[in-house]
Amino acid sequence: MAGAYVSNMAQYNKMYRQSLDEPEKFWGMMSKDFYWKEMWHTLNEVNFDYTKGPVSIKWFLGSKTNLAYNALDRHIEAGKGDNIAFYWEGNDDESRAYTYNEVYEMVCKFANVLKSKGIKKGDTVAIYLPMVVELPVAMLACARIGAVHSVVFGGFSADALASRVADCKARVLVTADGVMRAKKLVNLLDIVDNADKILKADKEANHKLDSIIVVERNSKAGPLKEQHEPWNKLMAGASADCPVEWMDAEDPLFLLYTSGSTGKPKGVLHTTAGYMVWSATTFKYVFDYRPGDVYWCTADCGWITGHSYITYGPMINGATQVLFEGVPTHPTPARCWEIIDKYKVNQFYTAPTAVRSLMSFGEQYPEGHSLKSLRVLGSVGEPINPEAWRWYSKHVGRGQCSISDTWWQTETGGHMITPLPGATPQKPGFATKPFFGVEPAILDPDGKEQDGACAGYLTIKRSWPGQLRGIYGDQERFEKTYFQLFNGANEMISKDKYITGDACRRDKDGYYCITGRIDDVINVSGHRIGTAELESALSQFEHCVEAAVVGFPHPIKGEAIYAFVTLEQGYEMTPEVQKALKQVVRSEIGAFAAPDKIQFAPALPKTRSGKIMRRILRRIAAGVTDVSEFGDISTITDPSIIDELLENAKHAS
Ligand code: WT7
Repeated sequence: MAGAYVSNMAQYNKMYRQSLDEPEKFWGMMSKDFYWKEMWHTLNEVNFDYTKGPVSIKWFLGSKTNLAYNALDRHIEAGKGDNIAFYWEGNDDESRAYTYNEVYEMVCKFANVLKSKGIKKGDTVAIYLPMVVELPVAMLACARIGAVHSVVFGGFSADALASRVADCKARVLVTADGVMRAKKLVNLLDIVDNADKILKADKEANHKLDSIIVVERNSKAGPLKEQHEPWNKLMAGASADCPVEWMDAEDPLFLLYTSGSTGKPKGVLHTTAGYMVWSATTFKYVFDYRPGDVYWCTADCGWITGHSYITYGPMINGATQVLFEGVPTHPTPARCWEIIDKYKVNQFYTAPTAVRSLMSFGEQYPEGHSLKSLRVLGSVGEPINPEAWRWYSKHVGRGQCSISDTWWQTETGGHMITPLPGATPQKPGFATKPFFGVEPAILDPDGKEQDGACAGYLTIKRSWPGQLRGIYGDQERFEKTYFQLFNGANEMISKDKYITGDACRRDKDGYYCITGRIDDVINVSGHRIGTAELESALSQFEHCVEAAVVGFPHPIKGEAIYAFVTLEQGYEMTPEVQKALKQVVRSEIGAFAAPDKIQFAPALPKTRSGKIMRRILRRIAAGVTDVSEFGDISTITDPSIIDELLENAKHAS
């Protein structure tokens, strides 16, 4: 079926060319899809090159708008208030539909609740909720009054939550008592109370929470305590009348913490107008969303995918979507296919790890369902291997669906390289072509841009509306991380392009295949985890001297975590110690980051300048035992370490 908005490659090529050659005209046309209290007068003002002044990115200058207004009021004013916004599906057998009118009323009331807690434009609100409707509602309530939300994924530990709350200085936290994840009760209140205690004890952070608002989702988590204010009680006393705060184009919209190759997670900043245009425009084109379609994204709002492709992009387009609290394999591996048939889902968006996991249960599960409503199947978060791509296309899509392998990042705000359904001819394993306005450049090891078919560092040559505007409170880290690229000898090889941190390959047809990170970031089940963070967590273990972490290939997770740990003299790597080390990571970061394998390292392989030779560790983690496959090992200080590591690898667990 030809796409509704772009029906073939000729049209894509024409629009893509225009987006680069006449950006004012192109974005002028795209801007018509939104309500602007005041229209922009200048498309953008951008400086990527720090030698010419601070790196700075501004789009749609002079405009005033509001994302909550565009996501709700505008549709209601157009008579679509009774349309379903969310079909909510609980972990077990609960479900409920919410219309745009209902969501609007909840958003207005909760915005007033936030105001009653002293929240004003520019203040930060932390949100730590499971996938209940209150999560997008709380985000939109912030947007409505100009508060900045900082959503923390519900799988993060108390420590991780506390450090994010302290960094963004949120005084209000919105959470829930507990939630069932498959068969397991997650007691969010315990975690929140621990985070609260950590904050109170942390003199250096010098930050405390003033209010903890609790959605009562699962009473098994225990009764609320004095410091908890029930959501329902606050909502009952709140007015449903809440005027919109008109925001300037570059007013902050949200912070979202993400891992990098070094140091603590960084608060990625997205602002108003550019993010609105990018999330909504990509949603419409990449999913070929047509009025009346039912769309379902399985991501959690705690990640960027849930921000851009649950809360904002779809809502701004007035879409009807499924909001799913559960996990794809509970109570059976048919859960997704049942939901797709129940709501006649047209677009389904999930991660390769979910596809591989469902694939492992066998095709009888999808094959036992109609699935004929499906038109577009999306993939996000990590490279999708051709085998999973083909299974997804054949057994879920029945050969009738477009597969949208969407490459993007927390920092890009929305899709960057992706097929357009019904226009882009597909190739398994390829994210295919750049979206409108995206100009990729592939650099060689000297930083030189390459032409035609090639492989190298993926960078983006010019700004696009959804680009991050900064790292909260750290301009220097922002400039160094995203706009400066160094080679092995620590020479700067690029300073005027956006550095993605990914490597890629381009074929003779101009199709892009993303091959993975070039930095020390591991992608586990589509979750991005920094090795530095993991190493600092492991070193909290009392008998740990030093730790080094690498990724290794895993059939379902994509990558899994492998830790090499040096223990104090006289300590042995017993199963108990391995367990204790995993536990440290669970409590410092979260269960999803726990290492899959840990092995003893008498010492770590290092160069004379003291750099850990991760290349060697990666080979060992991948199960390579032949030293001739380790590449150049001449710079290692003590070659005998390699044999010792290989010997100890036999006991990794
Ligand atoms: C990193 C960004 C994008 C939202 C969810 C993850 C990897 C993402 C793809 C894809 C190959 C992909 C990249 C990227 N990645 N999508 N379609 N093909 N790799 O966002 O946590 O910011 O992670 O995920 O390595 O840099 P994130």
